[in-house]
Amino acid sequence: MQVKILLKDSEIPKTWYNVMADMPTPPAPVLHPGTGKPVGPDDLAPLFPMPLIEQEVSRQREIPIPDEVRRIYALWRPTPMFRALRLEEAIGTKSRIYYKYEGVSPAGSHKPNTAIPQAYYNKMSGRKRIATETGAGQWGSAMAMGGCFFGLEVKVYMVKVSYDQKPYRRMLMESYGAKVVPSPSPDTNAGRGILSQDPKSPGSLGIAISEAVEDAASREDTSYSLGSVLNHVCLHQTVIGLEAQEQMKLANDYPDVVIACCGGGSNLAGIGFPFLRDKISGGKNPRVVAVEPSSCPTLTKGIYAYDFGDTARLTPLLKMYTLGHDFVPPGIHAGGLRYHGDSALVSQLYNERLLEAQAYGQTSVFTSAVIFTRTEGLLPAPESSHAIHAAIMEAKRADEEGTRKTILFNLSGHGFFDLSAYEDFQNGRLVDYEHPEGKIAEALDRLPKVEA
Ligand SMILES: Cc1ncc(COP(=O)(O)O)c(C=O)c1O
Repeated sequence: MQVKILLKDSEIPKTWYNVMADMPTPPAPVLHPGTGKPVGPDDLAPLFPMPLIEQEVSRQREIPIPDEVRRIYALWRPTPMFRALRLEEAIGTKSRIYYKYEGVSPAGSHKPNTAIPQAYYNKMSGRKRIATETGAGQWGSAMAMGGCFFGLEVKVYMVKVSYDQKPYRRMLMESYGAKVVPSPSPDTNAGRGILSQDPKSPGSLGIAISEAVEDAASREDTSYSLGSVLNHVCLHQTVIGLEAQEQMKLANDYPDVVIACCGGGSNLAGIGFPFLRDKISGGKNPRVVAVEPSSCPTLTKGIYAYDFGDTARLTPLLKMYTLGHDFVPPGIHAGGLRYHGDSALVSQLYNERLLEAQAYGQTSVFTSAVIFTRTEGLLPAPESSHAIHAAIMEAKRADEEGTRKTILFNLSGHGFFDLSAYEDFQNGRLVDYEHPEGKIAEALDRLPKVEA
């Protein structure tokens, strides 16, 4: 039986798949925070180069991947798909479990799939410098690598709790030549404001985004770059699902359920959107499932409303599931899943019941991560471990129902820089947090007022 399902280099996709071409209802517009009116390309031009703004709003179904980007993708793409036979045996399931492994990229996750094209389009558009944020450091490492490949200076605002938990990620970013500061930092008005209220703030992605946006908006040579959430980021990630579809054909199988962890939604979009295309066209009916931490349950407990993407209210308003732009999640180890909002595309598709969502606590997630390591050999990132746990739960449910499912999940990254999380788990120091119901009502009060 085939354990490893590989494609040839020539099979790296030549186009990205744009789900906006096939959505049953047009995507909700992005609004200007001052006027409440839809933003135009000129509003976004201080932050992003024009080719990325065009991709952000394009309705073209297939968007060509530049040759130079494909040549760099070839350093690690096509990524392998595995049939998790040893995991299946260990949990005693009749279901078939496959996973697509994105941890083979040089930076260790799916994030370079968008860092490379973002760096490429910035370079082509004459920008010299990039300001960005990072949670656990996976995105910062990817952008640091992208910047160094294209000769761009990179400044990374790294969420303070992760800066302290994951020093090796900072060292990797610095090895690529990036400058890294803990966020909140004294370098921006947004950071200074937070520090004056709470000098010990653990930081959050929302705060770090404020700092990076402010940095980019204040310098002409600098673009802002985001590692998730935005439409063009989801677009770039679809190489994962497009390859996975070819690999499922080689395995002579098709997933009943496609699973990915969800922070801002980009790896879920990456593996899920190409399969959703089959669902929307009515050809097949896969379930696509987002998995989030119960401490930051954006889809499962958040509100679907217009909100800011950042804490200091600098970004345009996105219609998304949100826990409130000033929500600071507990310092769980899956730092990349600590975001108050979600991709607008993922949110709308979830609202229209084309996607499902589940939330789990970190102790059960780490229990599954360790089962996976002991059977498949790979040490998964804490974020990716949410997808592993959900896949195991799906398989167990299918066994209880007496059915046999084909389950595909995205293993978005390795956990070699997350060893302190495994140490905490092994020493019983991890605790589960539930998002208190009262906080949702409080967040609702502080949402920006937008006309219906
Ligand atoms: C390994 C890994 N997986 C998943 C995520 C979550 O991001 P997204 O939801 O955009 O895929 C992150 C974010 O930092 C990550 O580092």
